[in-house]
Amino acid sequence: MNDDKTELIPRPVRESISEMAEIVMPNDANPLNALVGGRLMHWIDLAGALAAHRHSRQRVVTASIDHMDFLVPVRVGDLVILRSSVNRVFHTSMETGVKVWVENYRSGQNRHVSSAYLTFVAIDEAGNKLAVPQVIPETEDEKRRFEDAARRREIRRAEWARRKEGWS
Ligand SMILES: CC(C)(COP(=O)(O)OP(=O)(O)OC[C@H]1O[C@@H](n2cnc3c(N)ncnc32)[C@H](O)[C@@H]1OP(=O)(O)O)[C@@H](O)C(=O)NCCC(=O)NCCS
Repeated sequence: MNDDKTELIPRPVRESISEMAEIVMPNDANPLNALVGGRLMHWIDLAGALAAHRHSRQRVVTASIDHMDFLVPVRVGDLVILRSSVNRVFHTSMETGVKVWVENYRSGQNRHVSSAYLTFVAIDEAGNKLAVPQVIPETEDEKRRFEDAARRREIRRAEWARRKEGWS
């Protein structure tokens, strides 16, 4: 694993903040003209990866995606906004948070569609894991997410160990 300390200068969360916008097209929808969950999951993965790339300045792979709820239906023609940032770095992995809204561009009203936490691992061209610079939370929200991310990691690790037991 690459642990080159000169590359590991901490960076503020704000440098990872990313936004993606998508207009829902007929090809993204089910026969009821509603966005299919799998397409939204794909966009969430990309939005999370954007923040992870920006923070680590490395290639990243998705290690896991936590539980997701779909709170309101999204229709063909709607504007979907995805905002992401890195919540916390562990060593080679980092947790990103993605929050999704559907924006009614006529009324200007936003509705919360989904939120997800994703873990990305930084790798080099050969697939070796790379250490990632720590993240510096600055705002109250960033500090809260930073603290919560440590708790979520413990839960993830416990669940992962339980799942692995089930596979053997
Ligand atoms: C993710 C991956 C790189 C982990 O490699 P590994 O050798 O099994 O990992 P390790 O046990 O050494 O863990 C490496 C880091 O990943 C984290 N990690 C591994 N599996 C994880 C999981 N399921 N969820 C969250 N974090 C995970 C570990 O906690 C560790 O973090 P740390 O270095 O910050 O402490 C590897 O499993 C992989 O390549 N998976 C496929 C990824 C992929 O193709 N994704 C979809 C397409 S992008």
